[in-house]
Amino acid sequence: MPKGGDKRAIAERGLDETRSGLHVAIIMDGNGRWAKARGLPRTLGHRAGVKALKATVAAAAELGIGCLTVFGFSTENWNRPAQEVNDLMGLLKAFVDSDLDRLHQEGVRVRVLGRRDGLGADVLATIARAESLTKANDRFLLQVAFNYGGRADITDAARHFAEDVVAGRLAPDDLTEARFASYLSTALGPNPDLIIRTSGEKRISNFLLWEAAYAELVFQDVLWPDYGAEPLKSALAEFKTRQRRFGGAELDDVLAAS
Ligand code: FPP
Repeated sequence: MPKGGDKRAIAERGLDETRSGLHVAIIMDGNGRWAKARGLPRTLGHRAGVKALKATVAAAAELGIGCLTVFGFSTENWNRPAQEVNDLMGLLKAFVDSDLDRLHQEGVRVRVLGRRDGLGADVLATIARAESLTKANDRFLLQVAFNYGGRADITDAARHFAEDVVAGRLAPDDLTEARFASYLSTALGPNPDLIIRTSGEKRISNFLLWEAAYAELVFQDVLWPDYGAEPLKSALAEFKTRQRRFGGAELDDVLAAS
């Protein structure tokens, strides 16, 4: 049975997790099907996806979300036709070019998760510009996973830790969960409270594998280009019905039994 302090800690955690500063992560799926249903090329589905992303970022800040992480390009997406890969690369640049100044004025910190290897010079310059301009902002954290894969991120973290051990900066026993997490590209942000996947698919697809340990999962049938404030509100409403236990007992039962 928890002591008073522990009970309070659980209650506070409950408030933190449901009230403010939520971290919502989204697998933006369904651009291709959206385009196909309209007889359009997939590229136009992705472009419509950027519009949905803008609407969703705007809505998130107003809905008490403090951090939004979106899956823009996975380490597996290189297997798509070259034209589609080029288009997705260009869309990150277009999004930053059109929205960075406004995001900066609104106090949004932009961070790009994932491997830098393989990205072109123009994409790297875009990422560097977005991250350096906004690095002191703390009202909202927008993380775009780009050339990202959960396993790749974990592998890279393990390699960097091993390098620190080989260099004599750390010993194997220094490895704790918290220290390991500090090597992940997500180290700046909190773990996700809620992971949403659109388009009806029910998979995690190598997204935030370490960070998702206690995330709630919500799957919505809406195709990503149709996303925005309303679907996000309904995902949050679903999230608020969930009992989060983080591997422990339900808060009401803990309080009742003490
Ligand atoms: C999945 O839809 C979506 C993607 C692979 C890319 C997501 C990209 C965007 C929403 C554009 C904005 C991105 C950035 C970085 C600004 P899909 O093509 O797999 O759709 P399908 O499953 O219906 O074919």
